[in-house]
Amino acid sequence: MKSLLKVNKKINSFNQEIKVDGDKSLSIRWVLLASQTIGRCRAYNLLMSEDVFAAIDTIKELGIKVKIYKDYCDIFGNGINGFKYKKNLTINAKNSGTLGRLILGLLIKSPQKIKLIGDKSLSKRDFSRVTIPLKKFGVKFFYKKKNKLPLSILGSKSFKDVKYFENRGSAQCKSSVMLAALNSSGTTSIKAKKSRNHSELIFKYLKIPIKIKETKKFDFIDIKQPKKIKAFDYKIPGDISSSAFFIVLTILTTNSKLLIKNVNINSSRIGVISILKKMGAKISLKNKKNYRGEKISDILIKSSQNLKAINCPPELNSSAIDEFLIIFLMAARAKGISHFRNVSELNQKESPRLDLGSKILNMMGIKTELTKDSIKIHGQPNLKITKLIIIKDYLKDHRIFMMSTIAALTCGGKWEIHDKDSINTSFPSFLKIIRKIDNKSL
Ligand code: S3P
Repeated sequence: MKSLLKVNKKINSFNQEIKVDGDKSLSIRWVLLASQTIGRCRAYNLLMSEDVFAAIDTIKELGIKVKIYKDYCDIFGNGINGFKYKKNLTINAKNSGTLGRLILGLLIKSPQKIKLIGDKSLSKRDFSRVTIPLKKFGVKFFYKKKNKLPLSILGSKSFKDVKYFENRGSAQCKSSVMLAALNSSGTTSIKAKKSRNHSELIFKYLKIPIKIKETKKFDFIDIKQPKKIKAFDYKIPGDISSSAFFIVLTILTTNSKLLIKNVNINSSRIGVISILKKMGAKISLKNKKNYRGEKISDILIKSSQNLKAINCPPELNSSAIDEFLIIFLMAARAKGISHFRNVSELNQKESPRLDLGSKILNMMGIKTELTKDSIKIHGQPNLKITKLIIIKDYLKDHRIFMMSTIAALTCGGKWEIHDKDSINTSFPSFLKIIRKIDNKSL
């Protein structure tokens, strides 16, 4: 059974420096935007994972030339809506919600139907959240099964001003409409609940006509169609969502210290750091830099004792949306009952993460109180697991696999964690880095 990971002991104390793979959100956005430029775009440290390869394969299917080298990737854009493709084209977003949703925004002018498919997990996810706003541009969608993949898109010929209220705090929905705005002759106005703002920062850097007014809860974004987009190079920083697993690994391992180099610390992404610090974690940001509107720094983490439970402020949910599984593990080791509210979106991810996160904690002997949109976690600072825990049948969700691995390395017990290859979607070096930190573990 090649894809099974067995963990039989905790990781030893460590003092190490690591780098994590490139940021997934930025990597996918770079690929999609590079395809709309004129000329050669080059990215360094592009995340070489299945989700990003799916994005690359998708734009190749759409007639864009891509060359991958050892240290960088080149994309030769064909201009806005410069896609060229054969009839009856099918594109495959595989496991990637970000790709599946964002690419539809770039296809609002497609003169022929294009079919979008995905893997088993993506085919269970809701697409109406992007097809409803994209219909405002005059686009037509054809489903086999309502609101799910596979679907086909047929583009529009005439465009008007579009107004869209994004009220979930979903950067995928916001970004899909932002990409559609590149093809629309009208003005696109978005009122969006706060969510990661990478698309906005790249649009600004590329001098795409965008105006943003920020209030505490919402961003008001106006976009006009650019005449063209100039080719651009980009150095992708490390992914905070991947770093989060190592941050918690360090906090929960005694006498340990870790420096993670060059990570994106965009404030719309670092809810995990605020939450963990409120729980008593020792985390500091060193060597802060700005890069094209993004903030980057090294992250220093020390093992932390006396962790306390948190009543997590829901306004942090969006900036920690991909990190809740690993935050739940922290809560399992904190003193007191932690409470996370308004987190039903977690059940809309690659797997139902709210339900599965709770189930894994229960298997570990942690009591949880679960509702449709909240969870209470009864922490046990001195938790020691002695039994066998088997993690399988979870829709191959990469973050379930990684959370379980960190739980095994920090809480003990014997673990059999299936679908090791799921890490290839977002963080292929995950296990290699654990072995670098402690070559006697795993
Ligand atoms: C992403 C947005 C988030 C996040 C996903 C990546 C993005 O999804 O969970 O992993 O790159 O825009 P939602 O927009 O559905 O919250």
